[in-house]
Amino acid sequence: MTVRVAALGGSLLRPEVEDRQAWLRSLSESVIEINSRGIRLVLVVGGGAPAREGIELAKPLIGDDVEALDRIGIAATRLNARIVSEALEGAGIQVPNKIPESIENALSLAATNSVVVMGGTVPGHTTDNVAITMACNLEAERCIIATNVSHVHSADPRTNENAVRFEHLTHDELREIVGPPVHSSAGGSGVVDPIGADHARTAGLSLAVLDGRYMERLHACLCGESFEGTTIEG
Ligand code: UTP
Repeated sequence: MTVRVAALGGSLLRPEVEDRQAWLRSLSESVIEINSRGIRLVLVVGGGAPAREGIELAKPLIGDDVEALDRIGIAATRLNARIVSEALEGAGIQVPNKIPESIENALSLAATNSVVVMGGTVPGHTTDNVAITMACNLEAERCIIATNVSHVHSADPRTNENAVRFEHLTHDELREIVGPPVHSSAGGSGVVDPIGADHARTAGLSLAVLDGRYMERLHACLCGESFEGTTIEG
């Protein structure tokens, strides 16, 4: 049984509501098509705007307690996971009613369900690392990181017009870009969580980074076909 695992960045659900509704509808169509091919899915949803808002609101009250801010971020990932889960259910897809809160719970649901939707687990990393952990445990061929940039770049393309984009990278090259595996603050990490990148490197797990706003790119990658984005392997 083939299983594919994707981290869906929380930015994919916000902020333009009508676009996001269309995105959720096309995600449901993609899931139906993929399941009909006998492929199972684990979708790990990020916190996006509610995580950022919650963390910013609480930061002056909490100070530097990163774990406390992480817990707020995790709550936002679970809110977004619930939105995705209910949208899939509304499209007639059977999704476990429970949003699993640990890797163990998610693995046991993945053993018997065609689709599992979850958010974060514990403080200290982001949902990229949750998806990578699931992909390793399920022996998936790679982990998909669906975000809101087209490729991994040498610098943030939104602020640096000279940023170079990469189709292929090794894990060592990715580490040069994202930095060492440290979780220094809650919310707002780079294109790939450095802790997740390090985990994938140690496990020898390939990563596919793509712009998930374009459902055709995400769908192609979930189907195991060639896709527009960055492949990290080796
Ligand atoms: P995200 O996974 O959304 O991370 O979790 P992100 O990189 O900040 O945002 P995206 O991917 O661009 O949307 C939001 C925050 O929640 C906490 C972290 O503080 C993270 O930055 N979190 C999330 C955890 O502590 N553990 C988890 O398992 C997931």
